[in-house]
Amino acid sequence: MTGHVLAIDQGTTSTRAMVFDEAMRVKGVAQMEFEQHYPHPGWVEHEPEDLWATVVSTCRRAMTSAGVEAGDIASIGITNQRETTVVWDRRTGRAVAPAIVWQDRRTAATCQALREAGRETLVSSRTGLLLDPYFSASKIAWILDNTDGARSAAEAGRLAFGTVDSFLLWRLTDGAVHATDATNASRTALYNIHEGRWDEALLDLFRVPACMLPEVRDCAADFGTSDPDLLGGPIAIRGMAGDQQAATVGQACFEPGMVKSTYGTGCFAVLNTGNAPVISKSRLLTTIAYQFDGQPTYALEGAIFVAGAAVQWLRDGLHILEDAAQSGDLAAIADAAQEVYMVPAFVGLGAPYWDAECRGAIFGLTRGTGRAELARAALEAVCFQTNDLIDAMHGDWRAAGHEGAGAGAPVLRVDGGMVASDWTMQRLADVLDAPVDRPRMRETTVQGAAYLAGYGAGLYPDPTAFSKGWALERRFTPTMDAPVRERMVAGWRDAVSRTLSKN
Ligand code: G3P
Repeated sequence: MTGHVLAIDQGTTSTRAMVFDEAMRVKGVAQMEFEQHYPHPGWVEHEPEDLWATVVSTCRRAMTSAGVEAGDIASIGITNQRETTVVWDRRTGRAVAPAIVWQDRRTAATCQALREAGRETLVSSRTGLLLDPYFSASKIAWILDNTDGARSAAEAGRLAFGTVDSFLLWRLTDGAVHATDATNASRTALYNIHEGRWDEALLDLFRVPACMLPEVRDCAADFGTSDPDLLGGPIAIRGMAGDQQAATVGQACFEPGMVKSTYGTGCFAVLNTGNAPVISKSRLLTTIAYQFDGQPTYALEGAIFVAGAAVQWLRDGLHILEDAAQSGDLAAIADAAQEVYMVPAFVGLGAPYWDAECRGAIFGLTRGTGRAELARAALEAVCFQTNDLIDAMHGDWRAAGHEGAGAGAPVLRVDGGMVASDWTMQRLADVLDAPVDRPRMRETTVQGAAYLAGYGAGLYPDPTAFSKGWALERRFTPTMDAPVRERMVAGWRDAVSRTLSKN
């Protein structure tokens, strides 16, 4: 029974663990939500002990539900919410402050000041990212500057920094391994993605001591062995990637030009650009999609901060939905004559606008607007934002001398909770004017982590063979007339332009 893999997906709102067998079939699953902390407007924190406790508990439960023991598991794979920043004491393994979550905007002013000082080119030319509070670097500095004694302890080598993958690895190995993988490193704004190393100039810029940083490894690599006391015996750890990169792997987007889009709290579209990084002219991110045998494969990424979260707001904030799944049914019966646009800029807007200061807005309300029109507006906002990203990718990809991505490109592969809605996926295909492919296996993030771990352990085949197992469940083909589509997209862009803070 040794041919199993345990995959951990430590996400923004929940943690899951899944056990896969040697044929990559799911054998056991466990999931737990944990508390979100919003101590001030614009701040989002997690308690690192909650992240750890939910990982241990879901791993144990997934193993029990699969009927396997540590000795049956060939390796563990870790995937995670990216950018979220943890600083811990190397001696005790305990975090010195709450984890600052990727959505947290507390360092907006620091980033703005660095931008005004003309430092964005340095950051973007070396990391492929922008000067935005989204990334880890300014969050590390904030913890060092706002926690008693932290900066001097860090300079003395007593503190360690990690994104969530790295913190979990430290705990899993009982402090034996302080490492991360190239995809997670590429989201810190401290990692030079062209040279594959931490960048001294960026460490100086953000005032982060080099001795805090983890070692950077491939996505399928030796990350050590788990503490035998945790899961009933030692297990090798062989796979690691940030969640959007793991989904790219799970969707088998291994060929340049292939695009996937994952719909969770936010939405993240990733275009594989192959061995050469493509620099965006439209403020998309250049990042590492995955790295095998020391060779990075690059990607263009568009990040939207609010996707499923807009539907959650209708459910939990406005109480006009009983459950998220109802949104598609309501949208289907919305009044076609009403043009209601929702710009869900609850935490500002991400790509391609990057406006940390603007806040959400709804346009086109009439006395006849009800919950069906609001549900449709929330779902359409996700489609319009995806279209903005794919349009921008299309431009960058063509400018780099390739054929299109998105409109005119083969397909968009989708995954994540929202893709269960047929109405939303059809509207997405219509707005994009391109086919949308929904795979049979929708848990692509955790599957990607499992694949990396199994590949790293020699259990699963190479990426080309793995790609052959990707199976289509349904293709959504565009059916909307061009003038209708164009009017809708123009209406959305007008709504965004009225929402941006620089008006
Ligand atoms: O960059 C943030 C992203 O990795 C979070 O993903 O699925 O946890 O919302 P998710």
